[in-house]
Amino acid sequence: MMIKRRQFIASSAMLAIAPMLTESIAFAKSNERRLTAASAAIPLLGSGAPATKVWAYNASVPGPALRFRPGEVFDLAFHNELDRPSTVHWHGLRVPNAMDGVPVLTQAPVMPGQQFRYAFELKNPGTFWYHPHFQSAEQLDRGLHGVIIVEEDESPPVDRDLVWVLDDWRLDGEGQIANDFGDLHDVSHQGRFGNTASVNGRVPSDFTVRSGERIRLRLVNVANAWIFGLDFAGHTPMVVAYDGHAVEPHPPADGLVVVGPSQRVDLILDMGGAPGERFEVVDRYYPRRSFKLMDIVYERAALRTASLSDAIALPRPDLPQPSLASAERHEITFSGGAMGGLRSAQFDGRETGIRELARAGKVWAVNGVVAARHDEPPVLRLDYGRSYIIDFVNETAFPHPIHLHGHPMKLLAVNGSLASRDTWRDTLLMASRSRATVALVADNPGRWMLHCHIPEHQEAGMMAVVEVA
Ligand code: C2O
Ligand code: CU
Repeated sequence: MMIKRRQFIASSAMLAIAPMLTESIAFAKSNERRLTAASAAIPLLGSGAPATKVWAYNASVPGPALRFRPGEVFDLAFHNELDRPSTVHWHGLRVPNAMDGVPVLTQAPVMPGQQFRYAFELKNPGTFWYHPHFQSAEQLDRGLHGVIIVEEDESPPVDRDLVWVLDDWRLDGEGQIANDFGDLHDVSHQGRFGNTASVNGRVPSDFTVRSGERIRLRLVNVANAWIFGLDFAGHTPMVVAYDGHAVEPHPPADGLVVVGPSQRVDLILDMGGAPGERFEVVDRYYPRRSFKLMDIVYERAALRTASLSDAIALPRPDLPQPSLASAERHEITFSGGAMGGLRSAQFDGRETGIRELARAGKVWAVNGVVAARHDEPPVLRLDYGRSYIIDFVNETAFPHPIHLHGHPMKLLAVNGSLASRDTWRDTLLMASRSRATVALVADNPGRWMLHCHIPEHQEAGMMAVVEVA
């Protein structure tokens, strides 16, 4: 769905009455390790507008940010007080398979009124997040998501360490979530797009900073389909981590910080503006839909006159290094969708024509198979402990954020051009008709999901299972 100009004007009018940007989201107290999913209402559009009915973890959107010191153990009881089953997936964390939160594949869905205890060791520092993996298109979109931060042993000194949870909402005229989940146009095109963007569960307005301040900004895109491309005009953000894993600090390509659905980008921002100055943060990913997300507003008094000069690199990621010389090579192809030219695919065990697939609402395929359920026979079987190179090929007319569970992937090349720095990803944002080459060590046994993180695509067939044994 293209966003209509009118709707944007409506949402910028709402900006005027929106409160100051909530700079910090609520962090869970360390003894509060209970996550309850239930209906709630939030002041998404600000206090002057009607509250928006949502589904939320612990009654807030985003849910409580779970923050851990290195070496701490993750241990949390999930209570399902929704009227339908759910599970929680710890996106990007290298968890044991049984803790991965995928219905049927790794656990039985948690039924209404039931609970499930998730407990595991935390292996790597970084910015991660959590969300349901059951009927994700609707459960995620209605507000069920939260951030997980695992601190580094040592990290560069900053004045503030902030999180921006980026999201979008498809709201009706009353400020309520539009009920058209599963719309076949959304499913077969770019997914469910909203008409209102939010940061930390609010339509943002001003972000107040001080001259000379150094901010670590953790961007987390929890939208179903919206790709954010943030332009911090007048500033030079430095990327220090992708999907939680440290990368050599660098300014983003073309000055645009691109965060696809489910991806994270950690930035170090030196606030070099003068006291009293004002700048815009503009989302320019979609050139015809660019809009101002918020203003950066400098306070009257400077914090310091020159920026800090400490090094900003995070400690190098401690991840299993694939051996490229001995790696076995595989190819995974994504096809289907509108204008994708798919004629038929395997569905429920038989070759099925596109008309019949479309009638079943299943229009995307992975290596020629349209997934009917979470526990499909594996598309790949990997030997435990072995290194692999995987070529992902997006043959479709749309971009897709391709997510692999349990194993961060080292990016080797995009469309044949070699990656210029060590980059680890749990989600690759693949452009339409492109190829991405990654390497990994199959070091985590079990059956893992590989899927597009646009849940409308995932639920319409764009998922597969990778087995490590
Ligand atoms: Cu964040 Cu399988 O998902
Ligand atoms: Cu997709």
